Amino acid sequence: MKPFLKWAGGKYRIIERIKAALPPGNRLIEPFAGSGAVFLNMDYPNNLITDSNADLINLFRHVQSGGKEFIEYCQQFFVSDNNQADVFYHLRTEMNTTSDLQRKAALFIYLNRHCFNGLCRYNGKGKFNVPFGRYTKPILPEPELLNFWSKSQSAKFEVADFMTTMNRAEPGDVVYCDPPYVPLTTTANFSDYTQKKFGLREQQELADLAVKLMLKGIPVIISNHDTEFTRTAYAAANIDAFDVRRSISSDASNRQKVGELLAIFR
Ligand SMILES: C[S@@+](CC[C@H](N)C(=O)[O-])C[C@H]1O[C@@H](n2cnc3c(N)ncnc32)[C@H](O)[C@@H]1O
Repeated sequence: MKPFLKWAGGKYRIIERIKAALPPGNRLIEPFAGSGAVFLNMDYPNNLITDSNADLINLFRHVQSGGKEFIEYCQQFFVSDNNQADVFYHLRTEMNTTSDLQRKAALFIYLNRHCFNGLCRYNGKGKFNVPFGRYTKPILPEPELLNFWSKSQSAKFEVADFMTTMNRAEPGDVVYCDPPYVPLTTTANFSDYTQKKFGLREQQELADLAVKLMLKGIPVIISNHDTEFTRTAYAAANIDAFDVRRSISSDASNRQKVGELLAIFR
């Protein structure tokens, strides 16, 4: 089941590998939801899906409660008149400023499909600032939205920092963590999904929390790049290492295989 959002670092293409690593449980906890690719493709009876991006969680909640009506409401933004730079920038400002949460949610999908590479990036003031994408005819991904709606009925969506979410885990839960990647090099870093940066300190805190939960009998699986830093931080885990062809890059010629891993704490 494909997610309806384009998302940097989305895990749809390696979903089978992730599925194989996740043990059964009563509830899946995803502290770094992104497009929701993982919970959408699993069958846990309950799902706690959180992310620090409030625009993203606002959208998930509207799809969950609004279903077909909300999807129809979103359709009004996918017209050719809105596929022009000046209208795009006007609607981007509106998404950043409106207090109408339904309109904000619909505009967030509009931006995801009309902005450059489907990126999600905020400036220091917390304003979405990705430029116009120049696509020929962006369409609203209706089948994927309907799938998400049906799957979302077993989920709770909340805005939260990963530490708060992980500290809520109980025996019987399975935790899948997909943090912003540790940089492969100092320049190739992308972690602007929200205003707050995710640095090596946060990466280490996440690894420490994974060990803490493992010792309570709660399995934790973390996705990341395969680097010296992650091998050290995840020393207590079993490592499944593999190559992935990178999808979102500003430089098309730069789409090459990079080493990734799943760290399995259990
Ligand atoms: C690699 S993406 C997750 C992709 C997702 N697994 C998918 O398949 O689409 C990382 C996510 O972590 C979120 N994030 C960044 N810092 C965070 C934090 N401190 N706490 C919680 N979520 C955070 C970002 O908003 C982003 O959605």
